[in-house]
Amino acid sequence: MNCLGIDLGTSSVKIIIMDGTGKVVESTSKSYDVSYPAVGWAEQNPEDWWNGTKEGIKELLSRGSVKPEEINGISFSGQMHGLVLLDEKNEVLMPAILWCDQRTQKQCDYLNNEFGQDKISKYTGNKALTGFTIPKVLWVKENKPEIYSKVAHMMLPKDYISFKLTGSFASDVSDASGTVMFDVENRKWSEAMLDLLEIDEKVLPKVYESWEVVGKVSKEASKETGLSTETLVMAGAGDQAAGAVGTGTVDAGVLSVALGTSGVVFACDEKFSVDKENRLHSFCHSNGKWHQMGVMLSAASCLQWWVDNVNTDADGNVFEKLLSEAEDSPVGSNRLLFLPYLMGERTPHSDANAKGSFIGLNITHKRGDMTRSILEGVCFGLRDSLEILKSLNVEVKEVRVSGGGSKSKLWRQILADIFNLNVNVINSKEGPAYGAAILAAVGCGLYNTVDEACKELINITDRTEPIKENVENYNKIYNVYSSLYGCLKDKFEEISNL
Ligand code: XUL
Repeated sequence: MNCLGIDLGTSSVKIIIMDGTGKVVESTSKSYDVSYPAVGWAEQNPEDWWNGTKEGIKELLSRGSVKPEEINGISFSGQMHGLVLLDEKNEVLMPAILWCDQRTQKQCDYLNNEFGQDKISKYTGNKALTGFTIPKVLWVKENKPEIYSKVAHMMLPKDYISFKLTGSFASDVSDASGTVMFDVENRKWSEAMLDLLEIDEKVLPKVYESWEVVGKVSKEASKETGLSTETLVMAGAGDQAAGAVGTGTVDAGVLSVALGTSGVVFACDEKFSVDKENRLHSFCHSNGKWHQMGVMLSAASCLQWWVDNVNTDADGNVFEKLLSEAEDSPVGSNRLLFLPYLMGERTPHSDANAKGSFIGLNITHKRGDMTRSILEGVCFGLRDSLEILKSLNVEVKEVRVSGGGSKSKLWRQILADIFNLNVNVINSKEGPAYGAAILAAVGCGLYNTVDEACKELINITDRTEPIKENVENYNKIYNVYSSLYGCLKDKFEEISNL
């Protein structure tokens, strides 16, 4: 028994083969570009995703360790919210508009103010945000009517790959939740929302639970990839839900924190619940439950930006050099704060104009203080989501951290201190691709449920405990941090309009 996990990310597609014991026996990734045709726009060509996926699968099969007929199932993790449009001949009509594209503020304002956020939240559990899918649909309708009139199928990024593999149109409950056309509580497309927006349900894919079988590899896809036509394909999940499966975040009390390009705080919930102000997203989880999450648009990318832009004179690893300097800076970075809004912010401010800032600089500050304040600022931004979860009485007992930033011991300690929670690292390093492979294994019947698979396969390998004195210091600093955005909000807008 082997399962293929395909993680369709923003910079690359990562593909792994997991054997029947949960061991990853093969993996590869193929990268592709994002195009930024205007300020705030971000697009990709769905054909590039498919070409990368085909190349990756062919490469893994050519290694010969696993034969096509030994792959029982395939499933997906996908970058969420992107809009893929096909015509009646199933040809792509325009580049996909991605999750990080900010062009739809006008459509969001219309939806939240004219339609009413209350109504949208009642139907879908969420409000319209620039990253989400529904304002993108309205943008195309308004700005590209000639394209909109030809739309025969609308889908999310990973669902396009599922279509190319099986020939059928399928999505899953977790990814569909991020469209704001989905009735998250009842796990089905929202008729009321579709009626309001005059969208015919037949243009949308059929929605499944993440582990459910949606088809088999088609003859055509078998020819293109070398896969067997006997291999089952399961619906898969949005990248955050798949990533949470990959870290075993499947029960209430466990908080998954992703320190990736974006930063995510993800809490599993046994029942559907929604934050009245919709600061957090309320989505279906990929294990049959629900989850609430806060998403920061820049997390590890803040450190990447810093690494790219400062001269370290380092011979070796620039990250290591900067992080070791940061380690010499004390808790609070010598009274320096960093606001991590390098791409605007989603949770909790929903503000495309928010800007990154150093606050409190003085002549004594060193580069190490600045680096440390970036690590701290990202964790304070994540804490904003934690505070909302706590105010909603969501149970929080431990953090499981993943993503590139989680490799830094210093960053894990700062997270533990700012959250005042144990921060755990788990055995799997494959992230959402591993979650996707687990969903496939459940669909193939190797496990009865996603939760059972996670309990079997995932264990904690490292724990960082909060240091009491640091917790107290960070609580004081957080009080200042959390008031800064409110003081600067109008100025951020003025700067944008200069
Ligand atoms: C989740 C989100 C990101 C994207 C890209 O709401 O926007 O996780 O899916 O990774």
